[in-house]
Parts: sequence; structure tokens; C-alpha cells
Amino acid sequence: MLKGGLPMFIQIDRTAHLPIYLQIEDSLRKLIAQGTLRPGDRLPSTRQLAGQVGVNRITVEAAFNKLEADGLINSHVGRGTFVNHLSFPAEMRSAPASPDAESLARLWGPLFVDLRPAPMSLPALNMHLAGKAISFVHAAPASDLFPAAEFRRCVDYVLKRRAHDVAGLGSSDGLPSLRSQLVRWFAQSGIETSEDEVIITTGCQQSMDLIRRILVGPGDALMMENPTYPGAVAALAPSSSERLELPVNQGGPDLRVFGSLSARNTCRLIYVVPNFHNPTGLSMPLESRRQLLTTTGELRIPVVEDDVFGELRYTGPAVPSLKSLCPHLVIYIGSFSKMLSPSLRLGWIIAPRPVARRLNAVKQACDLHTSLLVQAAMDEFCRRDMLHRHLKRVRRVFLKRRDAMAEAVHHEFPSDARWELPKGGLSFWVSLHPECDTEELLRLAQEQGVQFLPGSAFYFRSPLYNSLRLSFAAESEARIRDGIRILGRLLASRNAWAERPRPRPAIM
Ligand SMILES: Cc1ncc(COP(=O)(O)O)c(C=O)c1O
Repeated sequence: MLKGGLPMFIQIDRTAHLPIYLQIEDSLRKLIAQGTLRPGDRLPSTRQLAGQVGVNRITVEAAFNKLEADGLINSHVGRGTFVNHLSFPAEMRSAPASPDAESLARLWGPLFVDLRPAPMSLPALNMHLAGKAISFVHAAPASDLFPAAEFRRCVDYVLKRRAHDVAGLGSSDGLPSLRSQLVRWFAQSGIETSEDEVIITTGCQQSMDLIRRILVGPGDALMMENPTYPGAVAALAPSSSERLELPVNQGGPDLRVFGSLSARNTCRLIYVVPNFHNPTGLSMPLESRRQLLTTTGELRIPVVEDDVFGELRYTGPAVPSLKSLCPHLVIYIGSFSKMLSPSLRLGWIIAPRPVARRLNAVKQACDLHTSLLVQAAMDEFCRRDMLHRHLKRVRRVFLKRRDAMAEAVHHEFPSDARWELPKGGLSFWVSLHPECDTEELLRLAQEQGVQFLPGSAFYFRSPLYNSLRLSFAAESEARIRDGIRILGRLLASRNAWAERPRPRPAIM
């Protein structure tokens, strides 16, 4: 048994966001994984351990139950609780045997740093439908809109004329010529920046991951719109962080929550998508942007502005970005994913110089740099003005698709459905009658060859089940009309399937 007794090794932080039973479970898991607690070791009874660490017995029982469910310990009535034998089973030491999933899970489970598996963020989609289904799932352009011929010319040119630029190792902040393209590009929209404030990344997803590494520690709080893009929750807000909610209503984020924030003053950053927010499609009015910056400025809270949809505006004048209004506290991220293709994995961060320097160092540690060939080809694509031309074309296509969807939703959906015409971006957010359950609607729709994302996938807290996100990016106008007609028919027969929303745990 352990010198000094088991309680010495159990770390409980009562100020942490993590429930205490999970903290006890984590401590015990670590002790088992490190071999400090060995197979056959007997654990104190739940009553003893609860008394020793100063918690309720039920709390320890909950921790033991989880460990037992994962096969790490075993309780025997009348004898006590013992650590299980987790050694590498003999049949798994030789390569040919194919171990069963449970043995593999037992072998690896205790070795992961984050001991709880990440929750699934997206609902199960019927993969058999892939390719055939009318899909309103992905808020990304269809692959047939990719300007393959033009892009190939750029790649050819780079390999012919700039092979020396792309054949060796590059610098972690990105290809200088692409960074200066971006500096010029953003000057047109009022963001005054310089090359040393720009870092090229493999997309917004990596940008968020890098930002988290320098600004958010375990147990730190950060604020995000709720609902929001689930990938941002996964990248910026690990399960050890405290996720503060910035509620989103019809007028955009509800900034009244800042009142309570000033009292707590523990928030490490605020993440927002001010243009064509995912999933609601709403844009933050100028007044709200100013108000947000006033508060965050007073509290010195960094703002991460995700403008991944910013170039996809179809109607109305552009609203100044947070970055242009407050260059010193805003970290601006974007990528070519929505305007060109997510498969390029090419994005950027524009950050104040001290932040950029830190980000550069962590980028280097992560992957040295983003593919030089892709960066150089994209640089050439911009230099030849192909990006401007491509954007003009896709904005026309997306506008038509948006209008086709608006008309179809207007005619086919029940009159109590609520939605706003998005001025840009790639999707609609529709709220149905409160008794509708869109996860159930998805199940039925998939049987008829239509897929979408239920709104619950976008909430990290208090999910609503009566909303859905319909992306119009990837389907033709005719298929959009067909798909919406099918959904409309299912909704018309709602009484046959609608259920009262059930209380369920948040998805992320
Ligand atoms: C708001 C938002 N940010 C970022 C991303 C991911 O962007 P990227 O492909 O650049 O990583 C998405 C993708 O859907 C998104 O909706």
C-alpha cells in the first residue's frame, strides 16, 4: 500500500470547475496508470476514503462506480475493492492475434492524459447515404465549385518557377509573400496590419488550438456564444475549462451577461463569430460590436474574432470587424475554407505582435509550418487575381442557392417555423414549434434521403431540440427545393412524431 496512505495522493481542488467525484476518479486512474497502485492492491472502503479526504461517501462511490465500469477496479462484497490486473494480456503481446475491443480499451484507457473520452459533438449521420443524400449538413462549398483548372495552373507555375521556395523547410509564421498578400487584402476591409502580425496556419481549427495553448490553462474560464460552432468548443475549451455562456438571441449575442462578468473577472478570452454566425447566420450589429469591445477593453479580456464566413456576404453593407475597431485586444482568425475549399487547410491569425510571437513559437512546436506548396500556390492564385474572380462567382451561386432555400422553406415549412434570411454565410437556422424534436426529424428525413444538422449539436449548454441548421452551400437549387419539400412534408405530419423535448445532457 501507499506510503502515507492513499488520501495523500488524491488531489481535490474545490475551486475547480470539475466535479469532485471526477477529480477523485482522475487521481485514482493516474495512480493505477503510473503503477503507484498495483494490481491486487486493496482500496480503502468508500466510507473510510470519504472521511479521510473530507467528502461525502456518495461522492467516493460515484468515483468507484466509474472506475469499476471501466474495469480498473473490482468490488467484492464482504472482501473490499481491489485494483484489477491490467497487464498487457499475453494474447495481445504477439502481433497476429486480433484483440477484442474491450481488451484494447482496458489497455489504453488509463494511459490517456485526458482520462474521459471527448464527447461526440455531431449526431450520427447515416453514412450509407453519403453521396446520394440531399445534404444540408456541411457549411462548406461543394467540391464542383473548386476552380481546379486555375489552381492547377498556379501549382504548375510554383513547381516550375519557385521550386526553391517550396522544397526546403519554411518559417513557422508562413511564406512571406502570402503574408504580404494577406496584409494588402485586409487593408481593403479596414484592418491595418503588418507581416509580423500574421501567422499562416492550417485553418481556423488550428488557429484556435494554438490560441488555447497560449491563453487558456486547465480550469480557466472562457466565454463563447451558445449555440456556437462545436469545433471551436473542442479546440478552445477543453473539458477542464469553465465554459461561460454568451446567449444568442434574434438580435445576436445578449451582452447583458457582461454585467456578471465584471464581478467575476476571471474570463481568459471571449470567442465570437460576428459575421454570419455559425449556426444562426446572424451578424452582430455595429453597436453591439462597440459595446463588446468597451467591456472587454475595460476588463482586459482578449477577443478571438472568427471571420471564416466574412467574405461570403450577399446583401447589405459590410460592418467593421472587431479587429479594425480594436486592433490591440482582438485576435482575428480566418481561412480559405469557406470561400475556396476546406481541404486546402490554409488559414491565418492576425494578432498583436507579442501574441504573434508566442503563437509562432507554439506553431513551430506543433507542426513546424503549414505546407509551403499549398501556401505558394495560394499566393500565386491571389497574385493572379483569381481569388477575387472566384469569390464573385461563388457569391452569385450561393446567393441563388440561398434564395432557392428561402423560397422553399417559406412555402413548405409550417407557418410557426421561425427563421431569418441570412445576409451571408452558408446556412439557415430554423426554429420550429417547441414540441418538435429535430433529432427525431433527422432520423425520419434520413430514411427519405435528406440530411441536415439538428440544432442541439451546436449547444455546449442547455441545448434546444426544436431548431435545425440547413446549409445551402453544397446542393443545386433543384435539389434544395426537393430536400426542403421532403422536410416540409415530414413537418406537416408532425403530430405523428413530435415529442416533448426531453431533458438531456449537453452535447459538448
Ligand atoms: C465558425 C467556424 N469557424 C471555423 C471553422 C473551421 O474552419 P477551418 O476549415 O478554417 O479550420 C468552421 C467550420 O465549419 C466554422 O463554422
